[in-house]
Amino acid sequence: MSTIKNIGILTSGGDSPGMNAAIRAVVRTGVYHGLEIFGIRRGYQGMIEGDIFRMQTTDVSNIIQRGGTILKTARSKEFMTDAGLAKAYDQLKKHNIEGLVLIGGDGTFRGAAHFFEQYTIPAVGIPGTIDKDLKGTDFTIGFDTAVNTAVEAIDKIRDTAEAHDRLFVVEVMGRDAGYIALYSGIACGAEDILIPEQTQDINDVLDRIDYDERRKKTVHILVVSEHEKLGGAKEVSDRIIARFPQLDVRACVLGHIQRGGAPSQADRVLASRLGYAAVNALVAGNTQVMAGVVNDQVVFTPFSEIVKDGNCVNIDMLEMIRVLSS
Ligand code: F6P
Repeated sequence: MSTIKNIGILTSGGDSPGMNAAIRAVVRTGVYHGLEIFGIRRGYQGMIEGDIFRMQTTDVSNIIQRGGTILKTARSKEFMTDAGLAKAYDQLKKHNIEGLVLIGGDGTFRGAAHFFEQYTIPAVGIPGTIDKDLKGTDFTIGFDTAVNTAVEAIDKIRDTAEAHDRLFVVEVMGRDAGYIALYSGIACGAEDILIPEQTQDINDVLDRIDYDERRKKTVHILVVSEHEKLGGAKEVSDRIIARFPQLDVRACVLGHIQRGGAPSQADRVLASRLGYAAVNALVAGNTQVMAGVVNDQVVFTPFSEIVKDGNCVNIDMLEMIRVLSS
């Protein structure tokens, strides 16, 4: 057991639906253990600037259902510098913060690993990102909601596509990971999916459209992940128009709508479980790890392993999509 009495909590990087549910779980579990909880606003940047305040259980009332993050978030360039790290550490000392709960994605844990190379402070991470690109957990907080948002949007696009006999190229988020594209594409019955993890030849994509055309398919939905290698929705739709001038083609970028909204049940439950587990781990002295859920069990993975390589997309799913949409 550790002797920690005061812990800080922050959210960092892109926000994700369910972060508030995780904050609630951390604060309430911390109070249960008799800890003092300090909220750190705007992630590492707020840590550097000392934007830190005491949190009570009432501060997290009525937030489990809200998107965004009540702690606000940021991507801090200053935290990448030695001077920034030193300022951040000084602020933690000043507020007597002896342990940290860090909620965020890949960048958050890379920042943490860098910080802890130079300064010793117990910390536990919680995976909060819509991208689902972290090792050590089956799902990240926000992914399920983001996919549901994308699915709702693509279903609507299919309605208008069908009405006009159009082909739509829909671009979804995910940074360098194709999970949002893969899951939303499967759920929407997409004709094709392009993701960064797989190198595609544009001619193969066009040949598949040609095949569908000859079978008189009237609607085509191509879901493309923002960093797939053919250049995104606009570039892909231009290439389609160049080969099939007779087709009525539109490109649609869903953008930040995928990051907002009320978290799904799955994200609220995941966030609650991980917030609770993270504080229990800190109290037990199990630190410098990220809490995750694998096969429905809470597991802890060292920060150093989280940042090494991401989750692995199951490429077989792409093959399945082509069979199911045929
Ligand atoms: O990491 C979450 C994410 O939404 C990615 O999917 C996307 O590439 C990126 O953040 C967008 O970042 P920003 O909000 O800074 O434009």
